Amino acid sequence: MVSLQNKVVVLTGASSGIGEASALAFAKEGCTLVLVARRLERLEKLKEKILSLGVPCIAIKTDVAKQKDVQRLFYLVEKEFGHVDVLVNNAGIGRNFDLVDTSLKDWQDTLDINVSGVFYCTQEAVRLMLKKKTEGHIITVSSVLGLIALPGRSAYCASKHAVTGFKRSLRWELKKNNIRISLVHPAGVDTDILNDLAVERKKWKMLRSQDVAEYIVALASRDIFWIIKVRLLNIWRRFYYLMKYYPH
Ligand SMILES: NC(=O)c1ccc[n+]([C@@H]2O[C@H](COP(=O)([O-])OP(=O)(O)OC[C@H]3O[C@@H](n4cnc5c(N)ncnc54)[C@H](OP(=O)(O)O)[C@@H]3O)[C@@H](O)[C@H]2O)c1
Repeated sequence: MVSLQNKVVVLTGASSGIGEASALAFAKEGCTLVLVARRLERLEKLKEKILSLGVPCIAIKTDVAKQKDVQRLFYLVEKEFGHVDVLVNNAGIGRNFDLVDTSLKDWQDTLDINVSGVFYCTQEAVRLMLKKKTEGHIITVSSVLGLIALPGRSAYCASKHAVTGFKRSLRWELKKNNIRISLVHPAGVDTDILNDLAVERKKWKMLRSQDVAEYIVALASRDIFWIIKVRLLNIWRRFYYLMKYYPH
């Protein structure tokens, strides 16, 4: 178990959904936050909220699909805070259609953001962790579709399976450097990504962003009892939402 107090956490996709909820959850644990996404105005609003909790926070507009943006991000993190303890690769898109309707741009954007974005951020974070000899932690939000597949989501499934394989390999590679790799595989969370997927939001079937955020923070703490507690809580929450929101 590690104390999260004052840990420097870089969180991608912090402008909405799971990322926004995770930023608030890390801030409540006393972490220093680096908020990353493309919609700076949303990050700035969140930053103000986090600063009011009394923890340091900066917002850096970054497109994770652009390597130069990501290099600039970590240059600024090092300049501002000296090192990084935790990277949460959460940014992602879910543009998906049946194969014949998937444009090359949809396919390319999905791989650029969901896969290359994770690669760029992880590589820069690990370089900084090795340089500063930080026993860091990289948590990546994959998806249940990084483990199984569904029809009509081939681009998204391909990207999330790639992320799962990439991280499983790194888990072994970086063990010798005491850099920990964790994967999160959510299924059905009530966020804006479902608008992209053109999936109807069935509230009774879904977890909330803060439920997944709590799990991410528990993972970062490495407290096995907390991790198990949140896992069990999330099973119970699914049942609770079903009872509460199931249309009668
Ligand atoms: N919701 C679910 O049911 C579900 C299930 C399994 C996995 N996930 C995964 O959870 C993660 C978070 O998604 P969410 O559900 O919270 O959806 P969301 O509310 O749409 O959040 C997606 C986040 O990713 C950011 N993002 C997208 N493209 C980016 C880019 N090029 N550069 C930087 N940031 C970018 C967005 O910010 P900007 O647009 O401001 O850049 C936004 O903050 C994703 O990786 C998703 O695949 C979600």
